[in-house]
Amino acid sequence: MSLFISFEGGEGSGKSTQGAILARWIVKQGFPVTLVREPGSTRLGNHLRRLLKGKQMSPAAELLLFAAARAELVETVVRPALEQGRAVVADRYADSTVAYQRYGRKIAARLVDAANNLATQGLKPDVTFLLDLPPEDGLRRVGNIRPGPPGEGKTHRADDPEQLRFEREPLLFHRRVRAGYRKLVEKEPLRWVVINATEPMEQVTDTIRREVARRLPSIAGPSGLADLLDLTGAELEADRAPEG
Ligand code: TYD
Repeated sequence: MSLFISFEGGEGSGKSTQGAILARWIVKQGFPVTLVREPGSTRLGNHLRRLLKGKQMSPAAELLLFAAARAELVETVVRPALEQGRAVVADRYADSTVAYQRYGRKIAARLVDAANNLATQGLKPDVTFLLDLPPEDGLRRVGNIRPGPPGEGKTHRADDPEQLRFEREPLLFHRRVRAGYRKLVEKEPLRWVVINATEPMEQVTDTIRREVARRLPSIAGPSGLADLLDLTGAELEADRAPEG
């Protein structure tokens, strides 16, 4: 049995950390897992990631590049992994495009949906965790906020010219992204699990595990062939070592 899990949220929500922790835990349960992040986790995706992080570009170009990275990932990694009966843990997926490009950048819904449909071939996660927190908190966590006029405070880190374009967007942009996620949750409440990401990390980890445990088969599958595309082999070996 396969299980497709995605993590969503704004900047500094801790979803990458929680996704990696969850993937390791699933391996420990004896279930094969593939961990991916977007954009990335393929050669093309990593290439596009560098462009998307640094280069100024039009909103339409941005939408299409995210879609291109996703199309490659779904076709070459996610779908084959699910077909092999693996669990897939995705750090961002199509919902990010709706939250950021539709609500953040204000691109028409039908265009964003068309790009997502083409990229995903209709493949949706079984469960999606939204790590929800006020954007002010998230940006502060990643060290990128400066006070500005109410609601339009500029977000930037003076000492880092390479900083992500998205983190530099004004607070209003990040508020639209958060509101966009909430609309997605309202539309499909059964797929989403909303988690208060201001809670202590261990508590967030526990909540996620409980939700995933309910969805994984009770008998462990073939033992832990892990394919954590953005972790190193050393990290994996450490995870396989017996505890205590
Ligand atoms: P990343 O460094 O992975 O940030 P994070 O840890 O917050 O995921 O950069 C990904 C950035 O790209 C992030 O700011 C969200 C944005 N993004 C979109 O705007 N649309 C998308 O479809 C995806 C996948 C990401």
